[in-house]
Amino acid sequence: MRFLYGLFPFVAAITGAVATSDADEWWFGDSLFYLGPPSSGINITKATYSILPPSVPCGYTVSNPDDEIWVAVWVGASSTAGSDYANLYQPVFDWSPNQESQGCPASETEWCVAASTYTPSGQIGQPYVTVPQGTTVDFEIAVVGDNVVQTVTMGGKVISNQTEALDSGLQYLYSSNECYTGSGSCGTIDGYTISNLTVTLSSADEKFASVMGLYDVTASSFTSADGGITWHADYINTTVVDFDDSAEVSQ
Ligand SMILES: *[C@@H]1O[C@H](CO)[C@@H](O)[C@H](O)[C@H]1NC(C)=O
Ligand SMILES: *[C@@H]1O[C@H](CO)[C@@H](O)[C@H](O)[C@H]1NC(C)=O
Ligand SMILES: *[C@@H]1O[C@H](CO)[C@@H](O)[C@H](O)[C@H]1NC(C)=O
Ligand SMILES: *[C@@H]1O[C@H](CO)[C@@H](O)[C@H](O)[C@H]1NC(C)=O
Repeated sequence: MRFLYGLFPFVAAITGAVATSDADEWWFGDSLFYLGPPSSGINITKATYSILPPSVPCGYTVSNPDDEIWVAVWVGASSTAGSDYANLYQPVFDWSPNQESQGCPASETEWCVAASTYTPSGQIGQPYVTVPQGTTVDFEIAVVGDNVVQTVTMGGKVISNQTEALDSGLQYLYSSNECYTGSGSCGTIDGYTISNLTVTLSSADEKFASVMGLYDVTASSFTSADGGITWHADYINTTVVDFDDSAEVSQ
């Protein structure tokens, strides 16, 4: 739920260097989509999508239960490609071997989910809700007036929502698999499916598909049927990520 430091060279250039040590590191699995920015003057005004989370991670280690690892899976929207000084509206799945340490009521084999926003002054999130195994969760991130409204729905029922001020027009939407190593390591996370992705723009951008970046995923085409205002992909399937293999992660 920290931002994707150094995921791409241009992001690293903006955000600068990261301190490193053996533990307490953040790793980001290199299987993701990265969409944006639209043509000049155009903003992202809405994104809807569904995620069937993978099985919880396996092969993880924890050496000090007071310094837990956690893993998060999310799709987020932001006005920048990676500034720490911008909001990242990121409804999030979260899991830890000690769920209680995260405020998550789920068992060790389930994920929690909640509406959540990274802000420069800290993470603002709603209470976590258990996601029963095999459950697809529906998400909406929508600009409504001067606000961003996140709505998380499970089985047709809103289970988490949050409204925050829009800091600046949304330009990017991207997915991430995030590992906080705490006193151990996060092991391996299976691939999962982001489906029925629909992105709405403030006005038509016929070239928007050219800024859809796919990194080690299998995805259907990203197309618009209305001349470039509304864009859709049936699915983006991520692949398995070994958080302990430096070839599969970025810091
Ligand atoms: C969340 O949804 C409830 C029920 O629709 C609504 O009353 C509330 O205003 C929403 N809260 C936020 C923060 O959007
Ligand atoms: C896009 O966002 C920028 C920055 O907040 C804003 O100045 C601009 O008016 C927005 N454009 C549209 C078409 O909403
Ligand atoms: C896909 O998303 C749209 C909203 O963007 C929704 O109306 C539709 O029911 C969804 N389709 C499926 C199969 O979930
Ligand atoms: C994407 O994932 C879904 C759900 O697991 C699966 O049914 C589908 O076959 C996958 N598509 C591709 C092209 O891998």
